[in-house]
Amino acid sequence: MDPRQAACVKIAVWEKAESVLEKRCKGEVGMLFDMGLLAKQQRILITGASRGIGRASALALASRGHSLILIARAQPALEQVAAQIRATGGEARACSLDLTNPASIGATIAEILADGPIDVLVNNAGTCYQCEFRNQSEARLREEIELNYFGALHLIRALLPSFIERRAGAIVNVSSLLGTAAAPTTANFSGSKAALEAFSRGLRGELARFGIRVTVFVAPHTQTESGLRTDFRGVKSLPVEYVAAALVRAIDRTPACYAASPVYRVLLRLAAWFPHWMERQMASSVQHLLR
Ligand SMILES: NC(=O)c1ccc[n+]([C@@H]2O[C@H](COP(=O)([O-])OP(=O)(O)OC[C@H]3O[C@@H](n4cnc5c(N)ncnc54)[C@H](OP(=O)(O)O)[C@@H]3O)[C@@H](O)[C@H]2O)c1
Repeated sequence: MDPRQAACVKIAVWEKAESVLEKRCKGEVGMLFDMGLLAKQQRILITGASRGIGRASALALASRGHSLILIARAQPALEQVAAQIRATGGEARACSLDLTNPASIGATIAEILADGPIDVLVNNAGTCYQCEFRNQSEARLREEIELNYFGALHLIRALLPSFIERRAGAIVNVSSLLGTAAAPTTANFSGSKAALEAFSRGLRGELARFGIRVTVFVAPHTQTESGLRTDFRGVKSLPVEYVAAALVRAIDRTPACYAASPVYRVLLRLAAWFPHWMERQMASSVQHLLR
């Protein structure tokens, strides 16, 4: 079988597996009643809420009656999401903030806390530039690390005193399969998510005694602006609403780690059991980009 035929077979198998597993999980996807954290109204701060997974998740959370603080840089886009939430009777506040600029984070969080405590922090904002490391500019390398890793840490640091004082709170850090199974052409992005996941595991142990939960949410390849910028042959890109529904479930249950789709749950297992095999699969999915 030539490589193109092999890629087509892989996509067909992937799509079949996703659709069979999606059907089996339909009850879960369409779950109307939240049984965990989201059973009570929560004030939730979500980053990257102006578009993509963050926006869809904010809308899904608001439709369940939760109060949202929306963070990203583009104030007009955030205002649109907030207006959409308010138009349906929900509560939302738009706060423009560049998470790669730590100097402005403390003051913004102090303003938000002046209106009341935050119950859940969702560190979703992230970026990915797909190219070989040797061709990646210093600015883009730094942006991935500053946003995907330090952006989350700065927000956690700013909110921790209030979480600890109330002995409550949940932190959900959005990662990727690439945080476990690194791929060529996204080496630095993989590094940023691997760091975020390792940090989350360490932090979980520090915060458990205060009743604060730390969850890693493994997002799948998703049909968003940054998802569509990346190209992995044989990988199916999932609809943003599907991924948002999974993120809502992760917030409700706050397990240590929650993978958005059943196929990704299997892939995480395979990556843990057969890391070298997985490394080869990841490499073959981007072989066409290596010149
Ligand atoms: N899409 C995928 O295939 C995929 C796969 C695995 C993991 N993920 C992860 O899922 C999360 C969401 O991804 P997505 O695909 O929804 O991304 P997206 O559509 O590109 O949206 C990114 C969001 O982050 C915000 N953002 C970017 N730079 C920022 C900064 N410096 N400060 C504050 N906010 C900033 C953007 O708003 P502004 O530009 O207005 O700031 C936007 O709201 C990310 O952590 C990503 O790594 C995505």
